[in-house]
Amino acid sequence: MKIAMIGTGYVGLVSGVCFSDFGHDVVCVDKNPEKIEMLEAGEVPIFEPGLQALMAKNVSAGRLSFTTDLVSAVADAEAVFIAVGTPTRRGDGHADLTYVMAAAEEIAQAVTGYTVIVTKSTVPVGTNRQVKQTVRKANPKLEFDVASNPEFLREGAAIDDFMKPDRVVVGVQSDRAEEVMQEIYRPLFLRDFPIIVTDLESAEMIKYAANAFLATKITFINEIAALCERTGADVKQVSKGMGLDGRIGNKFLHSGPGYGGSCFPKDTKALARIGQENGLPMQITETVIKVNEEVKRRMIDKLLDLCDGSFNGKVVAVLGVTFKPETDDMRDAPSLTIVPALVGGGAKVRVVDPQGAHEGEVLLPGVHWVENAYKAAQNADLVVILTEWNEFRALDLKRLAKRMHHPKLADLRNIYTDKDAKRAGFEAYVSVGRHDYIAAPKEDEA
Ligand SMILES: NC(=O)c1ccc[n+]([C@@H]2O[C@H](COP(=O)([O-])OP(=O)(O)OC[C@H]3O[C@@H](n4cnc5c(N)ncnc54)[C@H](O)[C@@H]3O)[C@@H](O)[C@H]2O)c1
Repeated sequence: MKIAMIGTGYVGLVSGVCFSDFGHDVVCVDKNPEKIEMLEAGEVPIFEPGLQALMAKNVSAGRLSFTTDLVSAVADAEAVFIAVGTPTRRGDGHADLTYVMAAAEEIAQAVTGYTVIVTKSTVPVGTNRQVKQTVRKANPKLEFDVASNPEFLREGAAIDDFMKPDRVVVGVQSDRAEEVMQEIYRPLFLRDFPIIVTDLESAEMIKYAANAFLATKITFINEIAALCERTGADVKQVSKGMGLDGRIGNKFLHSGPGYGGSCFPKDTKALARIGQENGLPMQITETVIKVNEEVKRRMIDKLLDLCDGSFNGKVVAVLGVTFKPETDDMRDAPSLTIVPALVGGGAKVRVVDPQGAHEGEVLLPGVHWVENAYKAAQNADLVVILTEWNEFRALDLKRLAKRMHHPKLADLRNIYTDKDAKRAGFEAYVSVGRHDYIAAPKEDEA
């Protein structure tokens, strides 16, 4: 099967590489020439474990190539996937469909024979019909179908998610399009991964409903965490006790500094907007958006408490700024709210992140980047764990505390315990939703 993938970001590149690994002939297109130059040189513009090797394997097998030339890439493709960005539109929270519609128009003018135009980007309900109209208008004689194929991969585990998905969702309007989509996903079908075939609108809705539900689950446990702090309960024990219930499940039940990333913030906002436009406000989702902002603010208050009410002049080491480990993606990361509050309050902020510096240097002005946690902690007043990269899960806490001016630890991912911190010599340890340890002030400080 000949496939063209429009957009080589986190979704387009992983999907293109994986489709080529299924045995299809794939051309990946991006309008960003720097990205294509890198890809042609065998380099991967994003950080995604395992992607570079899989890409190299399929390039050398002759099944995968890269270009900026959309016209030649789509001309004889049997399926063209649109995997461009759908960021939040400024001002109203709606998904910005400019890139999707521009791609649809370009594709319409370039394809020759029957083609299935597949939307992989996350798009509001009704968008695939709009894509169909756009294509029809741009090329009235073209024989084509549209299909909706939302993507559920997670950054950091993208290849595994694509190759072993919980399900593949395909929205179609014709048997012919369904056959093409079944052919594309045949390797997964043969291994019994569920492929759900729906109408266009249901496929579009599944993606938003799934993301809003996961964001709700995270936000729910974050709110319970705040109540645990007030009542003396321990959110880790509460999560475990809840998650073992098969009806609830233990995933997305870890409290932390609020959800972020390239999908949940924008997709919850877009779903809220779809509800408003249809005269049916999505009250749960709207509340989730609001509560998630409060969660991030609560984290800032925790840090302020640890700094005796003022960040001014304090030296703060921040460990991890990407929105989660194993990605370099900084989009809507909680660090983008928390770090500026520290800097704005007059703190001297040192940041460590295995992959975050490239984007972070632009997004987090006024911070100092250092190589490791121990360097960052030198003479610091506070260490904040914001993202649970593996290297922050196994810190030598004693070594860390020894270097600090005031050994205080804010563990916003609940990696350690108050006992660990106390034993290592920290004078204060603060986490999320648990019993925290703050040493009583010495007589002369009281
Ligand atoms: N990132 C994720 O984890 C994830 C997961 C599931 C779904 N999604 C959805 O997938 C879509 C893409 O997300 P992403 O994170 O990969 O975006 P991204 O911003 O990383 O990549 C988009 C790419 O598309 C390119 N592009 C835009 N218009 C183009 C055009 N006309 N022709 C060629 N290239 C063009 C851009 O240059 C960019 O490289 C979004 O709708 C997103 O919501 C993302």
